[in-house]
Amino acid sequence: MTIYLDNAATSFPKPEPVCAAVARTLRYGAANPGRGGYRLSLAAGRVVLAARDAAAQLVGMPDPARIIFTANATEAINLALFGVLQPGDRVVTTSMEHNAVVRPLRALADRGVEVVKVTADALGFVSPADLREACTPGTRLLAMTHCSNVTGTVQAIEELGRWCRTQGILFMVDAAQSAGLLPIDVTEMGIDLLAVPGHKGLLGPPGTGFLCVGEGVQVKPLLYGGTGTRSTSDRQPDELPERLESGTLNVIGLAGLLAGLEYLQKAGPVRVREHERALLEQLLGGLRRIPGATLFGPVDSQRHGGALSFTLEGGDPTELGHRLDAEHDICVRVGLHCAPDAHRTIGTFPVGTVRVSPGWFNTHEEIDRFLAAVHSLAAG
Ligand SMILES: Cc1ncc(COP(=O)(O)O)c(C=O)c1O
Repeated sequence: MTIYLDNAATSFPKPEPVCAAVARTLRYGAANPGRGGYRLSLAAGRVVLAARDAAAQLVGMPDPARIIFTANATEAINLALFGVLQPGDRVVTTSMEHNAVVRPLRALADRGVEVVKVTADALGFVSPADLREACTPGTRLLAMTHCSNVTGTVQAIEELGRWCRTQGILFMVDAAQSAGLLPIDVTEMGIDLLAVPGHKGLLGPPGTGFLCVGEGVQVKPLLYGGTGTRSTSDRQPDELPERLESGTLNVIGLAGLLAGLEYLQKAGPVRVREHERALLEQLLGGLRRIPGATLFGPVDSQRHGGALSFTLEGGDPTELGHRLDAEHDICVRVGLHCAPDAHRTIGTFPVGTVRVSPGWFNTHEEIDRFLAAVHSLAAG
Protein backbone atom coordinates (compact mmCIF):
# COMPACT_ATOMS: atom_id res chain seq x y z
CA MET A 1 0.00 0.00 0.00
CA THR A 2 1.27 3.44 -0.93
CA ILE A 3 2.11 5.65 2.04
CA TYR A 4 1.21 9.23 1.24
CA LEU A 5 3.21 11.78 3.25
CA ASP A 6 2.80 14.89 1.10
CA ASN A 7 -0.26 16.45 2.69
CA ALA A 8 1.42 19.87 2.67
CA ALA A 9 1.09 19.82 -1.13
CA THR A 10 -2.49 18.57 -1.07
CA SER A 11 -4.29 16.25 1.31
CA PHE A 12 -4.82 12.69 0.14
CA PRO A 13 -6.89 10.61 0.35
CA LYS A 14 -10.02 12.70 0.69
CA PRO A 15 -12.74 11.63 3.14
CA GLU A 16 -15.42 9.44 1.61
CA PRO A 17 -18.17 12.10 2.08
CA VAL A 18 -16.04 14.51 0.02
CA CYS A 19 -15.74 12.01 -2.84
CA ALA A 20 -19.47 11.31 -2.61
CA ALA A 21 -20.41 15.00 -2.64
CA VAL A 22 -18.23 15.67 -5.68
CA ALA A 23 -19.65 12.70 -7.61
CA ARG A 24 -23.25 13.48 -6.59
CA THR A 25 -22.99 17.15 -7.56
CA LEU A 26 -21.28 16.40 -10.85
CA ARG A 27 -23.92 13.83 -11.70
CA TYR A 28 -27.06 15.52 -10.44
CA GLY A 29 -26.49 19.08 -9.27
CA ALA A 30 -23.91 20.91 -11.36
CA ALA A 31 -26.14 23.69 -12.68
CA ASN A 32 -24.76 27.22 -12.68
CA PRO A 33 -25.20 28.63 -9.15
CA GLY A 34 -26.65 32.11 -8.86
CA ARG A 35 -27.39 32.39 -12.57
CA GLY A 36 -30.85 30.87 -13.03
CA GLY A 37 -34.26 31.05 -11.38
CA TYR A 38 -34.98 27.37 -11.93
CA ARG A 39 -34.78 24.87 -9.07
CA LEU A 40 -31.58 23.15 -10.18
CA SER A 41 -29.67 26.45 -10.25
CA LEU A 42 -31.17 27.48 -6.92
CA ALA A 43 -30.06 24.17 -5.40
CA ALA A 44 -26.51 24.72 -6.70
CA GLY A 45 -26.66 28.22 -5.23
CA ARG A 46 -27.58 26.74 -1.85
CA VAL A 47 -24.51 24.49 -1.95
CA VAL A 48 -22.33 27.56 -2.53
CA LEU A 49 -24.08 29.43 0.26
CA ALA A 50 -23.63 26.55 2.69
CA ALA A 51 -19.93 26.28 1.78
CA ARG A 52 -19.55 30.04 2.34
CA ASP A 53 -21.23 29.78 5.74
CA ALA A 54 -19.05 26.84 6.78
CA ALA A 55 -15.86 28.59 5.63
CA ALA A 56 -16.84 31.78 7.48
CA GLN A 57 -17.53 29.81 10.63
CA LEU A 58 -14.19 28.02 10.40
CA VAL A 59 -12.20 31.28 10.39
CA GLY A 60 -14.39 33.32 12.74
CA MET A 61 -15.76 35.68 10.08
CA PRO A 62 -19.24 36.88 11.14
CA ASP A 63 -20.24 37.96 7.59
CA PRO A 64 -20.13 35.01 5.11
CA ALA A 65 -20.32 37.45 2.17
CA ARG A 66 -16.72 38.34 2.96
CA ILE A 67 -15.60 34.82 1.98
CA ILE A 68 -14.43 35.01 -1.64
CA PHE A 69 -14.04 31.66 -3.36
CA THR A 70 -10.89 31.10 -5.41
CA ALA A 71 -9.24 28.16 -7.16
CA ASN A 72 -6.51 27.76 -4.52
CA ALA A 73 -4.47 29.71 -1.96
CA THR A 74 -2.32 31.26 -4.68
CA GLU A 75 -5.29 32.97 -6.29
CA ALA A 76 -6.49 34.18 -2.88
CA ILE A 77 -3.04 35.65 -2.13
CA ASN A 78 -2.87 37.35 -5.54
CA LEU A 79 -6.34 38.78 -5.06
CA ALA A 80 -5.32 40.15 -1.66
CA LEU A 81 -1.96 41.61 -2.69
CA PHE A 82 -2.97 43.08 -6.05
CA GLY A 83 -6.27 44.16 -4.50
CA VAL A 84 -4.84 46.36 -1.77
CA LEU A 85 -1.37 47.45 -2.93
CA GLN A 86 -0.54 50.14 -5.42
CA PRO A 87 2.66 51.85 -6.61
CA GLY A 88 4.21 53.84 -3.79
CA ASP A 89 2.87 51.54 -1.07
CA ARG A 90 5.18 49.78 1.35
CA VAL A 91 4.75 46.14 2.35
CA VAL A 92 6.68 44.11 4.92
CA THR A 93 7.10 40.37 4.49
CA THR A 94 9.37 37.55 5.68
CA SER A 95 12.06 35.24 4.39
CA MET A 96 9.84 32.18 5.04
CA GLU A 97 7.30 32.81 2.29
CA HIS A 98 6.16 30.45 -0.44
CA ASN A 99 6.47 31.68 -4.03
CA ALA A 100 2.70 32.24 -3.89
CA VAL A 101 3.60 35.34 -1.85
CA VAL A 102 7.13 36.01 -3.13
CA ARG A 103 6.27 36.19 -6.83
CA PRO A 104 3.22 38.49 -6.67
CA LEU A 105 5.25 40.75 -4.39
CA ARG A 106 8.10 40.70 -6.90
CA ALA A 107 5.66 41.64 -9.67
CA LEU A 108 4.30 44.44 -7.47
CA ALA A 109 7.84 45.63 -6.67
CA ASP A 110 8.42 45.90 -10.43
CA ARG A 111 5.40 48.23 -10.49
CA GLY A 112 6.70 50.51 -7.76
CA VAL A 113 5.63 48.87 -4.50
CA GLU A 114 8.36 48.89 -1.85
CA VAL A 115 8.85 45.36 -0.48
CA VAL A 116 10.81 44.90 2.76
CA LYS A 117 11.82 41.38 3.74
CA VAL A 118 12.53 40.40 7.36
CA THR A 119 14.81 37.40 7.81
CA ALA A 120 13.80 34.54 10.09
CA ASP A 121 16.18 32.69 12.41
CA ALA A 122 17.64 29.28 11.56
CA LEU A 123 14.54 27.48 12.89
CA GLY A 124 12.30 29.58 10.66
CA PHE A 125 10.91 31.87 13.36
CA VAL A 126 10.45 35.50 12.42
CA SER A 127 10.91 37.76 15.41
CA PRO A 128 7.83 39.92 16.07
CA ALA A 129 10.20 42.65 17.32
CA ASP A 130 12.06 42.62 13.99
CA LEU A 131 8.77 42.80 12.10
CA ARG A 132 7.55 45.70 14.22
CA GLU A 133 10.80 47.53 13.60
CA ALA A 134 10.53 46.94 9.84
CA CYS A 135 6.96 48.31 9.78
CA THR A 136 8.01 51.96 9.74
CA PRO A 137 5.33 54.68 9.49
CA GLY A 138 3.55 54.57 6.14
CA THR A 139 3.66 50.77 5.86
CA ARG A 140 0.42 49.61 4.29
CA LEU A 141 0.58 45.85 4.73
CA LEU A 142 2.31 43.06 6.63
CA ALA A 143 2.06 39.88 4.55
CA MET A 144 3.27 36.56 5.95
CA THR A 145 2.67 32.88 6.29
CA HIS A 146 1.12 31.40 9.45
CA CYS A 147 3.08 28.17 9.17
CA SER A 148 6.07 27.35 6.96
CA ASN A 149 5.60 24.70 4.30
CA VAL A 150 9.30 23.80 4.63
CA THR A 151 9.99 23.65 8.37
CA GLY A 152 6.49 23.73 9.84
CA THR A 153 7.46 26.75 11.94
CA VAL A 154 4.38 28.48 13.37
CA GLN A 155 4.65 32.27 13.55
CA ALA A 156 3.30 34.60 16.23
CA ILE A 157 0.29 35.61 14.15
CA GLU A 158 -2.03 36.59 16.99
CA GLU A 159 0.46 38.96 18.58
CA LEU A 160 1.31 40.55 15.23
CA GLY A 161 -2.31 40.93 14.14
CA ARG A 162 -3.23 42.77 17.32
CA TRP A 163 -0.25 45.05 16.92
CA CYS A 164 -1.02 45.78 13.24
CA ARG A 165 -4.50 46.84 14.28
CA THR A 166 -3.11 49.43 16.71
CA GLN A 167 -0.90 50.81 13.93
CA GLY A 168 -3.49 50.90 11.14
CA ILE A 169 -1.41 48.41 9.11
CA LEU A 170 -3.30 45.80 7.09
CA PHE A 171 -2.41 42.21 7.98
CA MET A 172 -2.46 39.43 5.38
CA VAL A 173 -1.92 35.84 6.48
CA ASP A 174 -1.17 32.91 4.19
CA ALA A 175 -2.92 30.04 5.96
CA ALA A 176 -2.02 27.43 3.33
CA GLN A 177 -0.38 25.17 5.92
CA SER A 178 -2.43 26.06 8.99
CA ALA A 179 -6.10 26.10 7.99
CA GLY A 180 -7.75 22.97 9.32
CA LEU A 181 -4.80 22.25 11.59
CA LEU A 182 -4.40 25.30 13.81
CA PRO A 183 -7.21 27.43 15.24
CA ILE A 184 -7.77 30.64 13.26
CA ASP A 185 -10.12 33.45 14.23
CA VAL A 186 -9.72 36.46 11.96
CA THR A 187 -11.56 38.74 14.37
CA GLU A 188 -9.59 37.78 17.47
CA MET A 189 -6.28 37.57 15.62
CA GLY A 190 -6.66 40.90 13.83
CA ILE A 191 -6.34 39.36 10.37
CA ASP A 192 -7.59 41.58 7.53
CA LEU A 193 -6.91 39.20 4.65
CA LEU A 194 -6.71 35.44 5.12
CA ALA A 195 -5.77 33.20 2.19
CA VAL A 196 -6.91 29.57 2.53
CA PRO A 197 -6.62 26.54 0.24
CA GLY A 198 -9.60 24.19 0.25
CA HIS A 199 -7.58 21.17 -0.88
CA LYS A 200 -5.03 20.82 1.91
CA GLY A 201 -6.04 20.82 5.59
CA LEU A 202 -9.72 21.40 4.82
CA LEU A 203 -9.75 18.07 2.94
CA GLY A 204 -11.66 19.45 -0.05
CA PRO A 205 -10.88 18.76 -3.73
CA PRO A 206 -8.24 20.60 -5.77
CA GLY A 207 -9.56 23.76 -7.41
CA THR A 208 -10.94 25.18 -4.17
CA GLY A 209 -9.82 27.91 -1.80
CA PHE A 210 -10.92 31.27 -0.47
CA LEU A 211 -9.90 34.70 0.64
CA CYS A 212 -11.52 36.04 3.79
CA VAL A 213 -11.75 39.84 3.58
CA GLY A 214 -12.02 41.67 6.88
CA GLU A 215 -14.71 44.18 7.71
CA GLY A 216 -13.93 47.56 6.15
CA VAL A 217 -11.06 46.28 3.96
CA GLN A 218 -11.36 47.45 0.36
CA VAL A 219 -10.04 45.00 -2.23
CA LYS A 220 -9.90 45.72 -5.97
CA PRO A 221 -11.09 42.85 -8.20
CA LEU A 222 -8.52 40.69 -9.93
CA LEU A 223 -11.13 39.57 -12.47
CA TYR A 224 -14.05 41.47 -13.95
CA GLY A 225 -17.07 39.79 -15.48
CA GLY A 226 -20.45 38.19 -15.00
CA THR A 227 -21.74 37.79 -11.47
CA GLY A 228 -25.40 37.00 -12.11
CA THR A 229 -26.28 40.33 -10.41
CA ARG A 230 -26.73 43.95 -11.62
CA SER A 231 -26.58 42.75 -15.20
CA THR A 232 -27.73 46.09 -16.63
CA SER A 233 -24.45 47.73 -15.61
CA ASP A 234 -21.08 47.46 -17.35
CA ARG A 235 -19.39 48.10 -14.03
CA GLN A 236 -18.42 45.45 -11.50
CA PRO A 237 -20.92 45.40 -8.59
CA ASP A 238 -19.80 46.94 -5.29
CA GLU A 239 -21.27 44.19 -3.12
CA LEU A 240 -19.32 41.23 -1.80
CA PRO A 241 -18.83 38.48 -2.68
CA GLU A 242 -19.87 39.35 -6.28
CA ARG A 243 -17.40 42.24 -6.53
CA LEU A 244 -14.50 39.79 -6.26
CA GLU A 245 -16.06 36.64 -7.75
CA SER A 246 -16.58 36.81 -11.52
CA GLY A 247 -17.48 33.88 -13.74
CA THR A 248 -19.01 30.50 -13.03
CA LEU A 249 -18.14 29.13 -9.62
CA ASN A 250 -16.71 25.65 -9.11
CA VAL A 251 -19.89 24.20 -7.58
CA ILE A 252 -18.56 20.64 -7.77
CA GLY A 253 -15.43 21.57 -5.88
CA LEU A 254 -17.40 23.66 -3.40
CA ALA A 255 -19.75 20.77 -2.70
CA GLY A 256 -16.64 18.74 -1.88
CA LEU A 257 -15.19 21.56 0.22
CA LEU A 258 -18.44 21.80 2.17
CA ALA A 259 -18.29 18.06 2.84
CA GLY A 260 -14.65 18.43 3.92
CA LEU A 261 -15.52 21.22 6.34
CA GLU A 262 -18.41 19.20 7.77
CA TYR A 263 -16.16 16.16 8.10
CA LEU A 264 -13.53 18.18 9.98
CA GLN A 265 -16.17 19.64 12.26
CA LYS A 266 -17.43 16.16 13.07
CA ALA A 267 -13.93 14.74 13.60
CA GLY A 268 -13.25 17.64 15.96
CA PRO A 269 -10.51 20.20 15.28
CA VAL A 270 -8.76 19.36 18.56
CA ARG A 271 -8.67 15.65 17.72
CA VAL A 272 -7.30 16.38 14.24
CA ARG A 273 -4.52 18.56 15.65
CA GLU A 274 -3.70 16.03 18.37
CA HIS A 275 -3.48 13.17 15.88
CA GLU A 276 -1.20 15.10 13.55
CA ARG A 277 0.92 16.29 16.47
CA ALA A 278 1.34 12.71 17.69
CA LEU A 279 2.50 11.67 14.20
CA LEU A 280 4.88 14.60 14.12
CA GLU A 281 6.37 13.70 17.50
CA GLN A 282 6.87 10.15 16.29
CA LEU A 283 8.62 11.49 13.18
CA LEU A 284 10.78 13.95 15.10
CA GLY A 285 11.80 11.29 17.63
CA GLY A 286 12.44 8.62 14.99
CA LEU A 287 14.41 10.81 12.58
CA ARG A 288 16.57 12.15 15.42
CA ARG A 289 17.73 8.59 16.11
CA ILE A 290 18.84 7.95 12.52
CA PRO A 291 22.60 8.38 12.11
CA GLY A 292 23.44 11.15 9.64
CA ALA A 293 19.95 12.70 9.69
CA THR A 294 19.67 16.46 10.18
CA LEU A 295 16.30 17.94 11.06
CA PHE A 296 15.28 21.49 10.27
CA GLY A 297 12.75 23.67 12.05
CA PRO A 298 11.43 23.71 15.62
CA VAL A 299 11.79 20.64 17.83
CA ASP A 300 8.81 21.72 19.96
CA SER A 301 5.71 20.20 18.34
CA GLN A 302 3.56 22.95 19.94
CA ARG A 303 5.17 25.47 17.60
CA HIS A 304 5.31 23.11 14.67
CA GLY A 305 2.66 22.65 11.98
CA GLY A 306 2.29 19.65 9.71
CA ALA A 307 5.48 19.73 7.61
CA LEU A 308 8.94 18.57 8.61
CA SER A 309 12.21 18.79 6.67
CA PHE A 310 15.33 16.68 6.93
CA THR A 311 18.44 15.65 5.06
CA LEU A 312 20.69 12.61 5.26
CA GLU A 313 24.44 13.04 5.34
CA GLY A 314 25.86 12.32 1.90
CA GLY A 315 22.38 11.75 0.44
CA ASP A 316 20.92 13.93 -2.27
CA PRO A 317 17.28 14.78 -1.35
CA THR A 318 16.06 14.20 -4.90
CA GLU A 319 17.66 10.76 -4.97
CA LEU A 320 16.22 9.96 -1.52
CA GLY A 321 12.74 10.98 -2.64
CA HIS A 322 13.06 8.84 -5.73
CA ARG A 323 14.21 5.80 -3.73
CA LEU A 324 11.48 6.23 -1.12
CA ASP A 325 8.96 6.12 -3.95
CA ALA A 326 10.52 3.42 -6.10
CA GLU A 327 11.75 1.05 -3.37
CA HIS A 328 9.29 1.70 -0.52
CA ASP A 329 6.16 3.13 -2.18
CA ILE A 330 6.32 6.25 0.00
CA CYS A 331 5.41 9.73 -1.32
CA VAL A 332 7.34 12.72 0.03
CA ARG A 333 8.30 16.02 -1.57
CA VAL A 334 11.95 16.95 -2.10
CA GLY A 335 13.87 20.02 -3.25
CA LEU A 336 12.93 23.63 -2.60
CA HIS A 337 9.15 23.27 -2.08
CA CYS A 338 8.45 26.51 -4.03
CA ALA A 339 10.04 28.38 -1.13
CA PRO A 340 13.66 29.15 -2.07
CA ASP A 341 13.89 32.00 0.46
CA ALA A 342 12.93 29.66 3.29
CA HIS A 343 15.67 27.25 2.22
CA ARG A 344 18.18 30.13 2.07
CA THR A 345 17.11 31.01 5.62
CA ILE A 346 17.70 27.53 7.03
CA GLY A 347 20.85 26.97 4.94
CA THR A 348 19.59 24.28 2.57
CA PHE A 349 19.54 26.28 -0.69
CA PRO A 350 19.86 25.24 -3.52
CA VAL A 351 19.70 21.48 -2.90
CA GLY A 352 16.75 21.60 -0.51
CA THR A 353 15.50 18.91 1.83
CA VAL A 354 13.19 15.93 2.05
CA ARG A 355 9.84 17.13 3.36
CA VAL A 356 7.47 14.81 5.18
CA SER A 357 3.94 16.03 5.86
CA PRO A 358 1.57 13.57 7.53
CA GLY A 359 -2.17 14.11 7.51
CA TRP A 360 -5.38 13.01 9.17
CA PHE A 361 -5.45 9.63 7.41
CA ASN A 362 -1.89 8.60 8.24
CA THR A 363 -1.31 6.02 10.97
CA HIS A 364 1.50 5.41 13.44
CA GLU A 365 2.22 2.17 11.66
CA GLU A 366 2.81 4.08 8.40
CA ILE A 367 5.22 6.43 10.17
CA ASP A 368 7.08 3.40 11.54
CA ARG A 369 7.38 2.01 8.02
CA PHE A 370 8.60 5.38 6.76
CA LEU A 371 11.23 5.59 9.53
CA ALA A 372 12.40 2.06 8.78
CA ALA A 373 12.74 2.98 5.09
CA VAL A 374 14.80 6.09 5.91
CA HIS A 375 16.93 3.99 8.28
CA SER A 376 17.71 1.53 5.52
CA LEU A 377 18.54 4.33 3.07
CA ALA A 378 20.79 5.99 5.65
CA ALA A 379 22.63 2.72 6.13
CA GLY A 380 23.41 2.78 2.39
C1 LIG B 1 2.80 28.27 2.53
C2 LIG B 1 2.08 28.09 1.22
N1 LIG B 1 1.49 29.15 0.65
C3 LIG B 1 0.80 29.04 -0.50
C4 LIG B 1 0.69 27.84 -1.15
C5 LIG B 1 -0.08 27.74 -2.42
O1 LIG B 1 -1.23 26.98 -2.22
P1 LIG B 1 -2.12 26.49 -3.47
O2 LIG B 1 -1.44 25.28 -3.99
O3 LIG B 1 -3.45 26.20 -2.87
O4 LIG B 1 -2.16 27.60 -4.43
C6 LIG B 1 1.31 26.71 -0.61
C7 LIG B 1 1.24 25.41 -1.30
O5 LIG B 1 1.89 24.46 -0.99
C8 LIG B 1 2.00 26.83 0.62
O6 LIG B 1 2.58 25.78 1.18
